[in-house]
Amino acid sequence: MFEADHPTKPDIAGRAEIETLVNTFYQRVRKDDTLGFIFEQVAQTNWETHLPKMYAFWETVLFRSGGYVGNPLAAHAKLIPLTAMGRAQFDHWLALFRGTVDDLFAGEKAEHIKNCAADMANVIHARINSIDEPRFDPANLTPEQRERYARYKAPAQGAANEPVSLKPSPPLSPQTARSRSRT
Ligand code: HEM
Repeated sequence: MFEADHPTKPDIAGRAEIETLVNTFYQRVRKDDTLGFIFEQVAQTNWETHLPKMYAFWETVLFRSGGYVGNPLAAHAKLIPLTAMGRAQFDHWLALFRGTVDDLFAGEKAEHIKNCAADMANVIHARINSIDEPRFDPANLTPEQRERYARYKAPAQGAANEPVSLKPSPPLSPQTARSRSRT
């Protein structure tokens, strides 16, 4: 289908669109020169478990209904002793993610998921590399970030302002990370 046949792309309405987004994104990641080997060779990712986990993750971020339970910081910290996980890798991941969203969807949720991805890329990159990161601090949101997340915040009392908790539990030392790695 040509763009002219679909002048307006759909927004992300729920689980079905999230699955499409995640499947398309990781198809691209797997073929990507910068990122593919990190999943295939370094982490030896089991795609049958990783993809459903990522559906749940993004559904939780966007709609608070995916039931994601996990520790994104630990999952990425354990890669640090094994491969470069610097700004170049995170910026490339983000460009691929934003491009995938834009190829498939348009609208408020599409914008929100790209903003969430950028905030989380910034915080994961900073925390796993022990870098002081002023761009996104979940404990100290800028007025713009506070307003943006408040629009999507569940009414639950005491809910964290950040979409998915990125608090390290416990903080990983390189030794701990290495002993937790699969290789
Ligand atoms: C340089 C960029 C990144 C690389 C190379 C990368 C790589 C990985 C790898 C290898 C895993 C483990 C997969 C497995 O189980 O084998 C993983 C898990 C995960 N990643 Fe990333 N990632 C990156 C950025 C991000 C970003 C920016 C986000 C969030 C927006 C994210 C969200 C997640 C989540 C939620 C998990 C699952 C954690 C869990 O086990 O609960 N990743 N990632």
